[in-house]
Amino acid sequence: MGLSSLFSKAVLLVFMVEFMSQVCSQSSVFDVKDSGAVGDGKTDNTNAFLDAWKKACQSGGTVMIVGGTYLLKTIQFSGPCNGQVSFMVNAVIQAPQGQSNEHYWINFNNINGLTIQGNGTFDGQGPSAWPFNDCHNAASCSPLSPSLVLTKLNQSLVQNVKLLNSKGFQMKIEESEKITVNNITITAPADSPNTDGIHTGNVNYINIVDSNIGTGDDCISMGAGTTNINITRVNCGPGHGISIGSIGKYLTDQNVEGVKVQNCTMSSTQNGVRIKTWNSTFSLSVADVTFQDIVMDKAQNPIIIDQQYCGGRHDCIGSSHVQVKDIKFIRVSGTSASEIAVNFNCSSSNPCYDIELNDINLSSENGGKATSWCSNARVSYIGTQNPASCQQALAPAMMLEYM
Ligand SMILES: *[C@@H]1O[C@H](CO)[C@@H](O)[C@H](O)[C@H]1NC(C)=O
Ligand SMILES: *[C@@H]1O[C@H](CO)[C@@H](O)[C@H](O)[C@H]1NC(C)=O
Ligand SMILES: *[C@@H]1O[C@H](CO)[C@@H](O)[C@H](O)[C@H]1NC(C)=O
Ligand SMILES: *[C@@H]1O[C@H](CO)[C@@H](O)[C@H](O)[C@H]1NC(C)=O
Ligand SMILES: *[C@@H]1O[C@H](CO)[C@@H](O)[C@H](O)[C@H]1NC(C)=O
Ligand SMILES: *[C@@H]1O[C@H](CO)[C@@H](O)[C@H](O)[C@H]1NC(C)=O
Ligand SMILES: *[C@@H]1O[C@H](CO)[C@@H](O)[C@H](O)[C@H]1NC(C)=O
Ligand SMILES: *[C@@H]1O[C@H](CO)[C@@H](O)[C@H](O)[C@H]1NC(C)=O
Repeated sequence: MGLSSLFSKAVLLVFMVEFMSQVCSQSSVFDVKDSGAVGDGKTDNTNAFLDAWKKACQSGGTVMIVGGTYLLKTIQFSGPCNGQVSFMVNAVIQAPQGQSNEHYWINFNNINGLTIQGNGTFDGQGPSAWPFNDCHNAASCSPLSPSLVLTKLNQSLVQNVKLLNSKGFQMKIEESEKITVNNITITAPADSPNTDGIHTGNVNYINIVDSNIGTGDDCISMGAGTTNINITRVNCGPGHGISIGSIGKYLTDQNVEGVKVQNCTMSSTQNGVRIKTWNSTFSLSVADVTFQDIVMDKAQNPIIIDQQYCGGRHDCIGSSHVQVKDIKFIRVSGTSASEIAVNFNCSSSNPCYDIELNDINLSSENGGKATSWCSNARVSYIGTQNPASCQQALAPAMMLEYM
C-alpha cells in the first residue's frame, strides 16, 4: 500500500470516527433510572439526577425521566454543556413537603441550547408550604422557594410541561436571552400566596406562547430589565393578570422596553393588563409596550397603571420617578368586575405620556356603567371608547404643556 493511500485511509478513518461520535452524541439518552433513580415518591433522587445530567451535559444528549413520581430536593443543573441538552420529563417530579426558602427548587444555570419538555409535571407541593408565607404582612420577608428557575440560559426552549402548586413563584427566567416557552400549563389555587406563574427579569428576546396559566398571583410578571418580550395566546385565570412590575423598588432595576402582549384572555382575574411601579427617587422607564386583542372575562381593573404601588400596600411616600411612556392598548374588550375599567394612576413628578387607547369596549359585568379614571396621564383616543374617555386632574407641569 502506498503512503498516500495509507494517508487517505487514515483521513477517512478520522472523519468516520468524528461522524460516529456526532451521531452518537446526538442520540444519547440518559435515563435517570440507570443512574439509580427510583420513581416511588419516597427515594431522594438528587444524586441520580445529577449523575444523568453530568453525562448528558458532557456529550450532549437527553436526560430522560419516565414513569412514576420522582422526589427531588433542591438541585442545580449547571453548564456550560457540550452540545444540545434536552431534559425530558414524562413523569412527575416532586418537591419535598414543607417550608423551604431557597433561591430555587430546581435551577438550570449557564446553558446554551437547553430544551425542557415532555408531558410530565413539576409538583412543588405548595399546600404544605403556603401557611409559612408571611409576605402579606411583612415589609421584608423571605419568599418561599420558586419551583423552576432558569438563569443565564441562551437559545433555550420550555415546552408542553406542567407546573403545579409551587411553594413560591412557579417559574422564573433571569439573565437569559432567546428563550421560548410554548404550550405549558401552570396551575395553583386562586388563593395561594405569591405563586406568580412566570416572572422575568434582565432578559432579552423572550417568547411565551400558547399557554394556560391559572395561579394565585400574577400569571406573568415582567420585572426590571425585561426587554423584547412577546406574550401571545396565553389564557390567564385565576390570577392577578399579566403585569409589568413592580419596577423601581431597587437601585439596580433596569428599564423595561419592547413588550407585546397579544391575543390573551383574562378570566376572573384580579387585574387584566397592569403596569405597577414603586416610589423610586432614581429615574427608570417602562416604554414601548403594546397590549392588543385582549379579552377580559370579569376581570377587576381590566386596564390599570398603578404608580402608587409600594408592594400593594399603597402607602407610598413621594412620587414614582419611573417614567411610563409609549403604551398602547388596542382592541381590549369584554367585562369588568369593578366599576373602574380603565385606571391610569400615574406619577405626579413623571406623568405618563403617549398612552393610546384604541378600540376599547369594556362593560360592567353586572350591567352597570363602567368608568375610567386618570391622574397625571396624557392619553390619546382612537376608535370606540367604552368606557368614555376620562376627565382628569393634570399635574401642573402638564397643564403648562396644554396651555
Ligand atoms: C407521555 O409521553 C410518554 C412518552 O412519549 C408516553 O408514553 C405517555 O403515554 C404520555 N402520557 C400522557 C398522559 O400523555
Ligand atoms: C401541548 O402539551 C400537551 C401536554 O404535554 C400535549 O398533550 C399536547 O400534545 C401539546 N400540544 C402541542 C400542539 O404540542
Ligand atoms: C447566545 O448565543 C448567541 C448565538 O450563539 C451568541 O451570539 C450570544 O453571544 C449568546 N449570548 C450569551 C449571553 O451567551
Ligand atoms: C415579537 O413580535 C414582533 C412582531 O410583532 C417581532 O418583530 C419580534 O421579533 C418578536 N420578538 C421576539 C422576541 O420573538
Ligand atoms: C389575534 O386575534 C386576531 C383577532 O381574533 C386575529 O386576527 C389574529 O390573527 C390573532 N393573532 C395572533 C398572533 O394570534
Ligand atoms: C390612586 O392611588 C392612590 C394612592 O394609592 C389611591 O389612594 C387611589 O385610590 C388610587 N385611585 C384609583 C382610582 O385607584
Ligand atoms: C416609599 O414609600 C414608603 C412607604 O410605603 C417609604 O417607607 C419609603 O421611604 C418611600 N421611598 C422613598 C424613596 O421615598
Ligand atoms: C361592545 O361589546 C358589546 C358586548 O359584547 C357588543 O354588543 C357591542 O357591539 C360592542 N361594541 C362595539 C362598538 O364593538
